[in-house]
Amino acid sequence: MTINIILLGPPGAGKGTQARTLVEERGLVQLSTGDMLREARSSGTEMGRRVSEVMDKGQLVTDDIVIGLIRERLETGGAAGFIFDGFPRTLPQADALTELLDGMGQSIDAVIEMQVDDAALVDRISGRYTCGNCGEVYHDTTRPTAAPGVCDHCGSTDLKRRADDNAESLKTRLLEYYKKTSPLIGYYYARKQLRPVDGMADMAEVGQQVAAIMDGLGR
Ligand code: AP5
Repeated sequence: MTINIILLGPPGAGKGTQARTLVEERGLVQLSTGDMLREARSSGTEMGRRVSEVMDKGQLVTDDIVIGLIRERLETGGAAGFIFDGFPRTLPQADALTELLDGMGQSIDAVIEMQVDDAALVDRISGRYTCGNCGEVYHDTTRPTAAPGVCDHCGSTDLKRRADDNAESLKTRLLEYYKKTSPLIGYYYARKQLRPVDGMADMAEVGQQVAAIMDGLGR
């Protein structure tokens, strides 16, 4: 059985953290448009350069670019299910996703909305660092690496902070979220697909809430 879910929430809500657990424990494929765009920006192409500027300011990249990235990935098929992490982020992106999945005879099974207060988001974003090799996500206080400077997961010492994880860009990212992405909460509520979780709880507890939703979907 194929199961597709969306992780919806503001920057720093914990979408990537929970997506990694779902990949490991349930064999789903994570499709993070943020990760795809970061790959594009390091490609050195003109498109990568334009994407880079927009991301660093904390603004959203245009719908046609991100929809194109998702379309390309879905066309390769072959997954037991997808976790859409950071996509869709606008109503046109949501419509495009419905259409793309429809064309594959599939649909969205649940939209997990991660609810976190703005003040906590600032703390989470300003303390975040990730492994450049395997993508594991850490935090200075809530989830530091066991050995300083070494990834627990793969042993790499390539730990880095994101260029858009600064106070100025976070302000814009939050505004973009409330203006363009939060209308999706109503969109999916009306479709009876919305499943809110308390994202203020600690990581393990959020994981349990997400697991209960997944178990209810038979996955
Ligand atoms: P993207 O990479 O998607 O970033 P984001 O949505 O801003 O989300 P983040 O990755 O910042 O946070 P997260 O929710 O994954 O939190 P995490 O698990 O890391 O997008 C970046 C940019 O790309 C956008 O600004 C835009 O320009 C562009 N873009 C991407 N997709 C797009 C689209 N569809 N359309 C247009 N443009 C697009 O956790 C954060 C920290 O908190 C970590 O340190 C973690 O350890 C910690 N943490 C996690 N959970 C908890 C917990 N429960 N308690 C305490 N700490 C926790």
